Amino acid sequence: MKSLASFIVVAVLAATTAAQELAEGQVNIVSARLAENARRSWEIGTRVQAILEHNATRYSVFSNSDLPPPANVPGDQQGPLTPVWNIARQVLGGLGGNDPAPLLPDSSVADPASVGIAMLLANWTNLDSNDDQYERAARNQYNYLYSDSVPKTGEGAISHRIEEAQLWSDSIFMVPPFLAYYGVITDNKTVVQQAYDQIKLARDQLYDSNAGVWRHIAGGSRGPDPGYWATGNAWAAAGMLRVYATIEQSEFSGGMKNQKKDLKNWVREIHRGVYERYFDGENVLRNYLNDPNTFYDTASTALLAATVYRASTVMDTHTYVPYAERSRLTLFTPNTGPYSNTNWTGFSNYEHFTSDGWLRPVVNPTSIGESMGNGGSPEAQAFVVMMHSAWRDWRWAGEKGKNAAIGSRAGAGIANILLAVLGAVLGAFLL
Ligand SMILES: *[C@@H]1O[C@H](CO)[C@@H](O)[C@H](O)[C@H]1NC(C)=O
Ligand SMILES: *[C@@H]1O[C@H](CO)[C@@H](O)[C@H](O)[C@H]1NC(C)=O
Ligand SMILES: *[C@@H]1O[C@H](CO)[C@@H](O)[C@H](O)[C@H]1NC(C)=O
Ligand SMILES: *[C@@H]1O[C@H](CO)[C@@H](O)[C@H](O)[C@H]1NC(C)=O
Repeated sequence: MKSLASFIVVAVLAATTAAQELAEGQVNIVSARLAENARRSWEIGTRVQAILEHNATRYSVFSNSDLPPPANVPGDQQGPLTPVWNIARQVLGGLGGNDPAPLLPDSSVADPASVGIAMLLANWTNLDSNDDQYERAARNQYNYLYSDSVPKTGEGAISHRIEEAQLWSDSIFMVPPFLAYYGVITDNKTVVQQAYDQIKLARDQLYDSNAGVWRHIAGGSRGPDPGYWATGNAWAAAGMLRVYATIEQSEFSGGMKNQKKDLKNWVREIHRGVYERYFDGENVLRNYLNDPNTFYDTASTALLAATVYRASTVMDTHTYVPYAERSRLTLFTPNTGPYSNTNWTGFSNYEHFTSDGWLRPVVNPTSIGESMGNGGSPEAQAFVVMMHSAWRDWRWAGEKGKNAAIGSRAGAGIANILLAVLGAVLGAFLL
């Protein structure tokens, strides 16, 4: 009896830890596609965040160490930060010195702010000892957001677009994390509060309590999109987590408890909405969460899973970890099954990666009603890096929530475990 019991325990463990993960060499291939193809402002900003989370971890807000980070870059961070400095130099080279001015030309007024972190870090660490050029670039970008060139709603929410005040869920990843970091670096709580305020104002317009998730676009007359775009929800959750972590690691943490509490609730409400209402046995999100006529999108799936691991390590909420695990296993397991990967530097025979490391199928980032069946979206590559990095940090932190119960709509994982147990019991009798 005792041996049967332990056999069952082993079988259950085997079923729940049949983890498949990408090797570092594979993540680097994914990152290479990202580096080669990130050209648009938000893709560059999102790449910066991926580099910080994956490699230059001491300079990521998720590093669990005080902010601001060291002004003297430690030796082990110099190599990892090199691509961030190259981006900062290139962006600086393209600027004309105007104040106010966005960091990059873009028809979105919000997206260029996503590159702001690179300029703030370059200034803070005195990159290339170039006087105050990085500081001015960051300040001009900040001033631009609050200038008359950028439309605002009546309540003061910063528009995503130049033509008219229009709020997009995407903006939550582009603007508030920059504001929060700007406030911490310049020791100005008002600016950190602005980060929170922008999120609150956007959520007021975009969160739909009946659907339990965020709409994509609110306000304005050009191209409205009241749909529940999966990537938009992931952008929003990811941006809120970055702001939360920035406040948490800063001197303002103690004085902003209520803001942190709200951010935590707002991340959790997205997780609850998506995973309890719109997650099916495919473990991949629909491009529009509630619309079964839209395609399965692995890009949003990856970023949202990343936010679940981050919520576990940063916010100490673990409820949705089993859902993220299911998405991760679905995306990162080769067709030949868990543990079958032996090519640590390549992708052969993956349903969700091409042989050159593109995640697929993914939403087309510039035409979001379309799927790219064979990949090709730079932001999706960054999302893979973020999911891998967030999962890695979650693992180091002790895999909290791994064995949490999963809701009834998503019972397949449990069913697999039961099957494994049954198999083990039968096996024991046959032996
Ligand atoms: C992290 O560093 C490795 C090794 O230098 C590199 O190949 C990879 O592209 C970097 N990751 C990102 C996201 O840039
Ligand atoms: C630039 O860095 C200095 C420290 O070297 C800091 O005092 C200042 O607030 C920074 N400015 C911005 C806009 O980040
Ligand atoms: C802090 O930021 C606010 C908002 O931009 C600004 O009005 C104020 O002058 C700043 N405070 C300091 C000390 O720079
Ligand atoms: C690993 O995969 C890459 C393609 O992703 C391929 O070029 C390489 O030959 C593979 N190596 C082995 C040993 O199968």
